[in-house]
Amino acid sequence: MAPPRVGLLLALALCLAFARADAAVRELRVGYYAQTCPRAEEIVRRVMARALAREARSVASVMRLQFHDCFVNGCDGSVLMDATPTMAGEKEALSNINSLRSFEVVDEVKSALEEQCPGVVSCADIIIMAARDAVVLTGGPNWDVRLGREDSLTASQEDSDNIMPSPRANASALIRLFAGYKLTVTDLVALSGSHSIGEARCFSIVFRLYNQSGSGRPDPHMDPAYRQALDALCPLTGDQNVTGGLDATPVVFDNQYFKDLVHLRGFLNSDQTLFSDNEGTRRVVTQFSQNQDAFFRAFIEGMVKLGELQNPRKGEIRRNCRVANGGRPPLEKQVAPFRVLDF
Ligand code: HEM
Ligand SMILES: *[C@@H]1O[C@H](CO)[C@@H](O)[C@H](O)[C@H]1NC(C)=O
Ligand SMILES: *[C@@H]1O[C@H](CO)[C@@H](O)[C@H](O)[C@H]1NC(C)=O
Ligand SMILES: *[C@@H]1O[C@H](CO)[C@@H](O)[C@H](O)[C@H]1NC(C)=O
Repeated sequence: MAPPRVGLLLALALCLAFARADAAVRELRVGYYAQTCPRAEEIVRRVMARALAREARSVASVMRLQFHDCFVNGCDGSVLMDATPTMAGEKEALSNINSLRSFEVVDEVKSALEEQCPGVVSCADIIIMAARDAVVLTGGPNWDVRLGREDSLTASQEDSDNIMPSPRANASALIRLFAGYKLTVTDLVALSGSHSIGEARCFSIVFRLYNQSGSGRPDPHMDPAYRQALDALCPLTGDQNVTGGLDATPVVFDNQYFKDLVHLRGFLNSDQTLFSDNEGTRRVVTQFSQNQDAFFRAFIEGMVKLGELQNPRKGEIRRNCRVANGGRPPLEKQVAPFRVLDF
């Protein structure tokens, strides 16, 4: 009996050794799919352009997925997974429920890619390419994306709940959170500039309109005319799913967001705090409000760094972004349509 058991132990040890080797950080590179799916980036761009034509906001919604994917156990497509009877999904996490949207655009990209080169392009990489395209298609800068990520086998609602910042967050909390990912104050401010496109719900700002920090008063760092407009959009007892633009030009990627912050017209508390509550972030906000090229350069650097956050676990190339290849089919779940009102 002894030799087989030794053999078994040896096999087990080898398996563990290989599992460890698999867990090595992957080398991402530009042009990763050049041989295996040469038209991949072109296909993603085309589907994103179609989504933009259908609904301008949708590309911003897809871009946001990069933040919510990469901060929670690395850029591994976990945010795209539907809940199963045995796994709570990140889609229902505090920051995501009734908020993250346009998953159907990612599905559309995935279908187009599966048709062209089945089983090759990861959902995690789709998010990275699509986020870049969202910026380009709305007037922002272009850059090369490094690819080669794998998709996770699981998602973690709990990790998302513990990690993702609240719209109430102040500058010092945000600086600390980002520093934990080796993202600098400049990265934080530049990446917050992604709020140059897209919208947010009244739900995310009623506290600062009517009861900032439990004071029973509005946030003092608001331009009075802007606050009046927000009060009208978001009355205390109104529908908190109503949305407004995150800056004055929510379908154009530009430095308007920073000009708005300087004029105390930031939508979220987590936006305005970068100008109003911290010397270090204020300096960068002011610089970006005056120099769009500087913003664009720093934004690219921030997006590349954000995209480098990896899940060290062995993954797979999901066939369907919503479900692990070995997993159960997703629950049939009807998501109620978002009510969109232009601010
Ligand atoms: C700095 C910390 C951040 C906080 C506290 C934050 C918070 C939020 C909140 C509360 C919303 C609106 C949610 C809602 O009301 O439904 C939002 C929207 C958005 N966020 Fe952030 N965010 C942050 C950073 C980022 C980053 C780094 C990115 C991208 C790289 C990003 C991209 C977006 C986009 C594009 C939208 C609009 C989405 C849409 O229109 O559907 N955010 N964010
Ligand atoms: C910022 O927020 C953190 C966490 O909520 C809090 O502990 C801290 O007191 C706040 N800092 C300032 C300057 O308001
Ligand atoms: C404001 O918030 C504080 C603390 O969260 C709470 O005690 C108070 O009742 C709130 N006031 C109003 C008018 O909602
Ligand atoms: C927003 O809409 C969703 C879906 O219809 C609903 O479940 C939720 O309670 C609404 N949220 C708010 C803050 O009104």
